[in-house]
Amino acid sequence: MTLSYAQSLDGSLTLQRGKPLRLSSPQSLRLTHQLRALHDALLVGIGTVLADNPRLTVRLAPGKQPQPLILDSHLRLPLSSALLENPHHPPWIATLETPQNPRWHALQARGAVLLPFAPNPQGRIDWHDLLASLFGRGIRSLMVEGGAQVIHSLLQAQAADLAVITLAPRFVGGLAVLEQPLGTLEKPLFPSLKEVGFQRFGEDLVICGRLSYPNDELEAKR
Ligand SMILES: NC(=O)c1ccc[n+]([C@@H]2O[C@H](COP(=O)([O-])OP(=O)(O)OC[C@H]3O[C@@H](n4cnc5c(N)ncnc54)[C@H](OP(=O)(O)O)[C@@H]3O)[C@@H](O)[C@H]2O)c1
Repeated sequence: MTLSYAQSLDGSLTLQRGKPLRLSSPQSLRLTHQLRALHDALLVGIGTVLADNPRLTVRLAPGKQPQPLILDSHLRLPLSSALLENPHHPPWIATLETPQNPRWHALQARGAVLLPFAPNPQGRIDWHDLLASLFGRGIRSLMVEGGAQVIHSLLQAQAADLAVITLAPRFVGGLAVLEQPLGTLEKPLFPSLKEVGFQRFGEDLVICGRLSYPNDELEAKR
């Protein structure tokens, strides 16, 4: 699983939650599309869909189209969403709802495939359950593009393997990538990047690496 997003120098994802802000240069945006084409599925949270109305397709690079996937516990996806306009790749929606919810059938009628899950102790869709279900559907690689809440819960679940992060040389002072810490001084659960690579794409710096979690490091020391 690859986590990929663009942030400003001060760690903002966008100016304000719910509003899109283009941070990437044309060159790093093309890289993002190349990365999308290397993955079987592409995931964002419903907050990003409501803010950006994304298509989640590969347009700026050659290659295959990944399966669009959204985390939408309560089926808030609007029926007018651009994701429902793509007849070749209707979205998969991971949800905590059941067919008793009338929106279930409305979304299904628009081609969406609904994947029901039981809530985890935090009342959320569990990343490990999601990965198991996707594996059963033939998905072997997943790219996660955000937004802030999804990035936080994914890092907390220690489920992503790789990170590819675009650093745009601008200050924004907006919505922080992480609005809450991932650990405490007593219990530091701070993921880090190993085997780090850097490359310039236009004016942006792209940082990539393998995600390493405190438990892995403890294991390695034993
Ligand atoms: N710069 C970038 O690369 C980039 C990339 C993406 C987004 N963005 C920006 O980020 C903003 C959106 O971020 P956001 O934090 O508001 O929304 P988000 O992270 O896209 O979506 C969060 C929502 O996803 C649902 N969800 C379901 N299961 C979840 C789980 N296990 N963990 C976390 N969320 C789960 C929750 O809604 P329910 O409870 O209703 O399911 C939650 O409120 C937008 O303004 C967008 O423009 C920037």
